[in-house]
Amino acid sequence: MNVLLTGGTGYIGSHAAVCLLQAGHNIAIIDNLSNSQELVAGRIENITQKKAPLIVGDICDTNLLIQTIQEHRIDAIMHFAGLKAVGESNAIPISYYINNVQGTLSILNAMDQTGVSTMVFSSSATVYGEPQYLPIDEHHPTSATNPYGRSKLHIEEILSDVAKSDKKWSFICLRYFNPVGAHHSMQLGEQPNGVPNNLMPYIAQVAHGIRAQLSIFGNDYLTTDGTGVRDYIHVMDLAEGHLCALDYAHQHPGWHAINLGTGTGHSVLEMVTAFASASGMEIPYQFEPRRSGDVASCYAKTDKANKLLQWSAKRSLESMCTSTWAWQTGEFSQK
Ligand code: NAD
Ligand code: UD1
Repeated sequence: MNVLLTGGTGYIGSHAAVCLLQAGHNIAIIDNLSNSQELVAGRIENITQKKAPLIVGDICDTNLLIQTIQEHRIDAIMHFAGLKAVGESNAIPISYYINNVQGTLSILNAMDQTGVSTMVFSSSATVYGEPQYLPIDEHHPTSATNPYGRSKLHIEEILSDVAKSDKKWSFICLRYFNPVGAHHSMQLGEQPNGVPNNLMPYIAQVAHGIRAQLSIFGNDYLTTDGTGVRDYIHVMDLAEGHLCALDYAHQHPGWHAINLGTGTGHSVLEMVTAFASASGMEIPYQFEPRRSGDVASCYAKTDKANKLLQWSAKRSLESMCTSTWAWQTGEFSQK
C-alpha cells in the first residue's frame, strides 16, 4: 500500500515509517517540523534503504494534503501529527484544538475529496480519564481532564460519526499506553524539547548526568511500593501494532478503538531499578508530592489487539531501557 504518515518525522511516526517500509509498503511523510527535524527522513532512508519522501507542511493545509495524496497515490493514512504535552495544552488550548481537531478535520476533508477512506489514528490511554477498574479495556468509560485529552476524545468521536455516515470509512483509533525506547540502529528515538515531562526520558537524562536527580511524584499511592504504575510499551512494538492495524482496517471498515499496551504495569521505582541495571549508572532520586492530575495505576487489557490485530507486545522492559540508553548516549540524539 501507499501510506501517508502525518507527523512521520516525530518519535512514534518515524519508527512506524521504518516498519512500513520494511514490510514492503511505500510511504510519504507530511510534517511541519514543529517538534521534529528534517534529517529524520534521511535516517529512515538510511535504515531501510528505501525512499521516505518528506513534504514539509501543515495538516491544516487541505490543498497540500490533496496534492500529496494524489501525487503519491495514497491508499491509507496513518495520522500521528499533533501536539501532545498535557501541561502545555492547559496553557494554549486553542493551538491544541487547531492542530489536533481542526488538523484532523482537514485530513478527513482531503480524504473525502480524493477517495481515501482508511485511517489509523494515534489516540491515547488518556481518553480513559481516571481509571475506574484495571486492567483497562476498550469498554471503559471515556472522559478528559485536560485540553490534550479532550482533543483526542473529540477526534475519536468525529471519526465515529464519519464512519456511521458511509460504510466506506475505516478508522482505527489506537489508544497508546506509555511508549518508550528507541530503534536499535540508535538513529531514531525520542527527542524531548527542554525539560522532559515524561518519566523515561527524564531518567535517561539523569543517568547521563544532564540532570542531577529524578523527582518521583508521590510515594503514597496504593501500589506495591507507593509510586505510580504505568504500562510502558516499546516503541517498536507499538510501530508493529500499526502495521497490523493497517491490514485490519483495510479489511474491516467501520470505527474501532484498540488498546496498544503490554498489559503489565511497572512502578516508577521499578523503572529506576531497571534503567540503572541497563545503563550501569546510578540514578539519584528524591520523593516529591504527587503531580496534579496523576493516577495511581494505569495499564491495558490487550485482548482486543491480540484477537483482532493478531498482535502482542514482545519486547522486554530491559530492551526498552537498553535501547533508550543507547539512543541517549549515541551521536544521533544530540540536537
Ligand atoms: P512527536 O511530537 O514526536 O511527533 C508528532 C509530529 O507531528 C512531530 O514531528 C510534529 O512536528 C508533527 N506535527 C505536529 N503538528 C503538526 C501539524 N499541524 N502539521 C504537520 N505536522 C505536525 O509525538 P509522538 O510522541 O511521536 O506522538 C505521535 C502521536 O501519538 C501524537 O498524536 C500523540 O498525541 C500520540 N500519542 C503519543 C504518546 C506518547 O507518549 N508519545 C502517547 C499517546 C498518544
Ligand atoms: C503521560 C501523559 C498522558 C498520556 C500518557 C500515555 C502527561 C502529564 N501525561 O502520562 O496524557 O496519556 O503519558 O502516553 O504527560 N513521573 C515521575 N517523575 C517524573 C515524570 C514522571 O515520578 O519526572 C511519574 C508520574 O508521576 C507517573 C509515571 O512517572 O506515575 C509516568 O509518568 P509519565 O511518563 O509522565 O506518563 P503518564 O503519567 O502516564
